[in-house]
Amino acid sequence: MMQSPFSLTDKTILVTGASSGLGRQTCIAISEMGGKVIATGRNPERLEETMSMLTGEGHIAHLADLVNFEDRKQLVQSLPKLNGFVHSAGISRIIPLKYLTDDLLDEVHTTNFEAPAKLTRDMVKARVFMPSSSIVYVGSIAPMLGIPGQCAYSSSKAALMALARVFAMEVVSQKIRVNSVAPAMVKTPIMEGAAVSKEQYDLDEKSYPLGYGEPEDVANAIVFLLSSASKWITGTTMILDGGLICK
Ligand SMILES: NC(=O)c1ccc[n+]([C@@H]2O[C@H](COP(=O)([O-])OP(=O)(O)OC[C@H]3O[C@@H](n4cnc5c(N)ncnc54)[C@H](OP(=O)(O)O)[C@@H]3O)[C@@H](O)[C@H]2O)c1
Repeated sequence: MMQSPFSLTDKTILVTGASSGLGRQTCIAISEMGGKVIATGRNPERLEETMSMLTGEGHIAHLADLVNFEDRKQLVQSLPKLNGFVHSAGISRIIPLKYLTDDLLDEVHTTNFEAPAKLTRDMVKARVFMPSSSIVYVGSIAPMLGIPGQCAYSSSKAALMALARVFAMEVVSQKIRVNSVAPAMVKTPIMEGAAVSKEQYDLDEKSYPLGYGEPEDVANAIVFLLSSASKWITGTTMILDGGLICK
């Protein structure tokens, strides 16, 4: 029987942010589609929990704080040849511009932009990507909107999605594809601790024609971008927003 172009069989894919939310669900979806996952995150218990949720054999867990030079170096040195890379690790901090401290701005930009930029550079230098690899960055819809309090977060994601487009054109001759996804609100632990009441949350969800997203809505789009079904797609940002922008 012909193999489906959506299959990830025989593909080895590194996923960051694998210990929670979208990264975790992406690992699960990749494994269900036949791929091998190298899952990385900081929290050992949660990363182990992700590993226990995967289908199939041969998956690897690797603890790393991606803002740490030594951790990034060890991660890159440990990598086999890859067919894909999903960068999902990220943090959200909501604070109006006038209260934004230098430290907070640095924390968000270092985590959401500098860490993946340096990690990607080092992976390219180490020649880990096979020809026809697919790379997906988890950006956000935030840079396309003007959401109060999101200056640091939104600008870090704008930079990440810009990196994706530039990088796409730098590796296109090797048939390596680079895209980003730009989700709106998805139900994950990222908003835990944010100063948002249940009433505000429910009211905001009503502004989404299809409601807030589930982690699988993002993970399934990422699987498509990783698979050869999307072999003509590079340098793009796929908006995943339940109709929010269109309405
Ligand atoms: N959920 C949404 O509504 C939404 C919408 C648009 C975009 N996004 C983006 O989607 C991505 C995933 O978000 P999520 O909702 O899945 O969030 P989450 O549940 O809070 O997960 C965040 C992940 O990032 C990892 N991480 C954070 N800082 C790290 C660091 N310095 N080094 C290594 N790993 C680090 C965490 O690792 P540990 O837990 O092990 O520390 C965790 O696995 C983020 O980039 C976020 O900005 C989310």
